Amino acid sequence: MGATTAKVKTKTGAGTAKQAATTRRQPTSTPWAEVRGSAIHGRGLYAVKTIPEGTRIIAYDGEAITKAESDRREQLRHAREKAGGDGCVYIFELNKRHDIDGSMAWNTARLINHACTPNCRTEIIRGKIWIIAKREIAASEELTFDYRYGYESWREHPCRCGTDRCVGYIVAGEYRWRVRKILKAERVARARVERTKKTTRSRPAGA
Ligand SMILES: C[S@@+](CC[C@H](N)C(=O)[O-])C[C@H]1O[C@@H](n2cnc3c(N)ncnc32)[C@H](O)[C@@H]1O
Ligand SMILES: [Zn+2]
Repeated sequence: MGATTAKVKTKTGAGTAKQAATTRRQPTSTPWAEVRGSAIHGRGLYAVKTIPEGTRIIAYDGEAITKAESDRREQLRHAREKAGGDGCVYIFELNKRHDIDGSMAWNTARLINHACTPNCRTEIIRGKIWIIAKREIAASEELTFDYRYGYESWREHPCRCGTDRCVGYIVAGEYRWRVRKILKAERVARARVERTKKTTRSRPAGA
């Protein structure tokens, strides 16, 4: 995310991995938002008051891991997903050498869902991943950011963000035109097959 990969590679920029945090901790919190059931998926984070543009809302915390370890965990996630278990992706690309695994329950920011037109962005500031208001956010709006998933596995990640510009899949902005083009070509091909079926059915026998 800003987050993640099949191995959902994302582009979040550079930073330094600082925290190895597997121990039990109090959930991270923010005066700006709280956890609620989400219309997009599972639980999400919702603004409890108007959040001014540019506000650092909450940090995406977790365990800093190497790319090799990240790949290993992603394979495990994939296997879990295939077996019908939790397919949620919590790994966030930190820099060329490290990722952050934010799957720990205490990382409240892990609950922020993706939207194709999000109200938050992510930024790595001194090795910490921050969720920042992209614009003023009204109270009760769900917080979202662009997970910026890579192109390789877009079909595996349907998007239910419901925004006007939703492409239907969670994939980084620069690939959305390609995905739209493929989906359009598929729609056209399906329509052609349907038309051919109808024509064949309506043609008199022997004609
Ligand atoms: C880090 S979790 C987000 C929190 C999640 N809602 C929960 O309750 O645990 C990431 C996962 O949430 C789901 N998700 C997030 N945004 C989504 C969206 N726009 N459409 C569909 N699923 C989404 C996907 O399953 C993704 O792997
Ligand atoms: Zn969407």
